[in-house]
Parts: sequence; C-alpha cells; structure tokens
Amino acid sequence: MKLWGGRFQKDTDLLVNELNASISFDQRLYREDITGSMAHAAMLADCGIISKEDAAAITSGLEDILADIEAGKAAFTADNEDIHMNVEALLTARIGDAGKRLHTARSRNDQVALDFRMYVREQIPVIVGQLLELETVLCRQAKKHQTAVMPGYTHLQRAQPISFAQHLMAYAAMFRRDVTRLEDCGARLDECPLGSGALAGTTYPIDRWETAKALGFAAPMGNSLDGVSDRDYALELLSGLSILMMHLSRFAEEVILWCSWEFKFIELDDAYATGSSIMPQKKNPDVAELVRGKTGRVYGDLMSLLTVMKGLPLAYNKDMQEDKEPVFDAVDTVEMCLPVFAAMLDTLTVRPKNMARAASGGFINATDCADYLVRKGMPFRDAYMIVGRLVNMCIKSGDTLDTLPLKDFQSVSGAFGPDVYQALELKTCVGGRKVYGGPSPESVKMQIENIQKFVDARA
Ligand code: ARG
Repeated sequence: MKLWGGRFQKDTDLLVNELNASISFDQRLYREDITGSMAHAAMLADCGIISKEDAAAITSGLEDILADIEAGKAAFTADNEDIHMNVEALLTARIGDAGKRLHTARSRNDQVALDFRMYVREQIPVIVGQLLELETVLCRQAKKHQTAVMPGYTHLQRAQPISFAQHLMAYAAMFRRDVTRLEDCGARLDECPLGSGALAGTTYPIDRWETAKALGFAAPMGNSLDGVSDRDYALELLSGLSILMMHLSRFAEEVILWCSWEFKFIELDDAYATGSSIMPQKKNPDVAELVRGKTGRVYGDLMSLLTVMKGLPLAYNKDMQEDKEPVFDAVDTVEMCLPVFAAMLDTLTVRPKNMARAASGGFINATDCADYLVRKGMPFRDAYMIVGRLVNMCIKSGDTLDTLPLKDFQSVSGAFGPDVYQALELKTCVGGRKVYGGPSPESVKMQIENIQKFVDARA
C-alpha cells in the first residue's frame, strides 16, 4: 500500500504510477535528503517533539541507509514514488515506529525544496572550481603568447591588430563574471526552506533556526508559502550556466575557425581532436563543436524550467517535480564541457606566424595611420578621410599601407614623412595601445595579473 494510501480505496493505475514517480531521477538527491532528515530529527528531539532515543535510532538508521545506497545495496521502488518516500520506507522497515516519527512537522514539499536547494548549493563550488581552472589555463597561454599579434575583428572583418593574449584575456574576463554570477546565486539561496511544511508551516514548536544552522544556511526562509513555492535559485543557476555556455560557445566557434585551413592560427593537440571515417586527411575540432552544440541543451533546460514555473499558483504543484531533470542535465553538461575545453586550450599549439600574416593584410593599421596624422596636428575626421583615400589607392595598386611608396602618401597629404612606416608596424600599433584594458603587452600583463589575483583569492 502507498504511504498515503489511507483515504484511497483502489490501487494507483500502473501508468499513473509510472507518470507520478520521480525516483528514477531524484535518487540523485539521496545524500541531501538524508542530511536534511538527520537535521530535522535532531531538531525534533531538541524541541521535545520526539524522544532522544527515537532521534538516535533515526540517525543511525539513516547512516546505515546512506552506506547501503553508496554501496549500491539499497533497492528503490517506483511504488514509493520519490527519494523522500523511498528513504522513509527503508528507514521504517529498518527501525520501526521511530522511522514513522521522522516526518512529524514536515512535508515532502519543504523536504524537496530543501534537498534541491542543497543540491544547487553544492554544485556551485564545483563549477566555480572548473571555471577557475579554465582561468588558470587562459593566464598560462596568454603569458606564453603576449607578443603574438593577430587581427582583431569586427563583423568578422579584420579591424585592428591585437595580441592573442588579449583575445584570451577577453574570455577570461567573461568567465570571471560567470564565477561571480554563480557566487551571487549561492549567496541568495542561503536560506533554509525546512519548516515551511506543506505550505503553512506547522503547529509544532520546531526551531527553524536550529535546522537552518545545522544545514549550513544563514537563516530560515521568511515565508512558508515562498519556502515551498519558488525555484528561483534553480533558475538563477540555469541562467548562470546558460550565460557561461554562451561564452564557451563563442570561444568554441573561434577555436573552430582558428583551426580551419583558412586561418590556421592554432593547431589542436591530437588528443583533443577527432578524425573522419572517410577523409583520411581530416582532423576535426569535435570538442569545440560539441561544446557549441551542447549550449543549446543548456538553454533548453533554462527554458523548460521557466516554462514549468510560469503559470503555477502558490504553493506547491506537482508540475514542480519537473524542476530536477533540466537542472541535472545542465549541471552534467557544464561539468563535462568545462574541463575538456580547458584541457583542449591548454594543449593547443599557437601559430604566431599565421596570425601575423593575417594581421598584415586587410589594412588593419589604417586607424593607426590616421592617428599618425592626428599626432602631426591634423583633426581626426580629416585624417580618417585621407587614409580612406590611401586605402583606395592601395587596393587599386595591390599595395598595403606598409608597402605604399612615400611619394604616394605625400601625394595625398604633405604631413606624411618617412617615419610613417614605423608607425604602421604591427608591433607599434599593438604596443602603442597602452590604454587600460588595451592589447599592449603592459596592459595585457596587468589583465593577467588581475585574473590571477581573482583566482588566488578563491584558492
Ligand atoms: N517528488 C516530489 C517533487 O519532486 C516531492 C514533493 C511531492 N509533494 C507532493 N505533495 N506530492 O516535487
């Protein structure tokens, strides 16, 4: 018979049983469930609601169940619906009446809200740790390639010269915000829903501060309806993970471009690339493509849960059982992608010559040419117009600004002197951008140091 079978006269339809049960996926919460129950039982005893002996029997029974689950020896059944009722049933089978006292002053609604919140809380440092590892790899590669000049792009058109190091540090800045976004989520979820009961709290003289503290929360949640109703912490996690995957996916896209024959800015290590079943020459960036592809499923996870929640009246509704799989899927996906992506970046070979070659075409130093005239006293808008004319001349003659004869420069403006060639060198262009946040080696060095400090502060 069902744990709640008292008011029913018929067995549950088999298909309903299957639809209703969540044990196939929420068994992942067994540890959180047991931890929460232990804290609840201890509090019940401290408040004189159950006896110390019962609480001790519950605790040791739950410890044994935990050990059995971890040893793969516990048998869960769909008849017991979910992890909460499976654990309770196992406990009662083991210790009898004391087990039946565990659920005093509690509902599965606050129980599941607690378990899920603890699960989300535990995943944050795991993912943050992986992000910090990725940051470390980025710093390492950036340090190695501070002088590798590459084209910076807008509209995927060569725009201005930057360094490979600065490009990497741009992603490092994004991942840094991903870390703090997750930390913010962790700070906001730091309240304990246990004691909210089904929705309206309880008449028992429980101590919600005791359980909150025992379970590592700053305080109990301040409203029992809210305590069992909201899943915003899971949505914040999914939003943070979606944004993180968006960053990772843009990076993946660039890795894919960069190892194409058209670019050849980088070469992936053999261990992080794959071959083709028909084309013997192929070396494919599957890791980056999968990361890009899996971004879609993490967005889907966020959309699923947002949609599940959007029309629900307060308080608990069974729809909310659908909260877990998207979160598990997103967590699994991100935790799978981050370390592989970091290792792929750590092991790739950079081809600075190809980067420099790409940077020397496409009039990437045109802005610097205009800036040269500005330094000679010309208003920027006039300088801009003159360089536009020079670029047009070069396109016709097949020159670049670096190879255009001085007399041609001077035919457009008398302000040009022989020092223009040095001003147009890529090294000068990058090195001159010493502005805070810019690509000059000094500026990038500061960016690397700042990220390293950020990582060290969390070590
Ligand atoms: N398995 C349920 C869930 O995941 C637990 C809460 C069930 N509560 C209820 N009143 N049916 O949401």
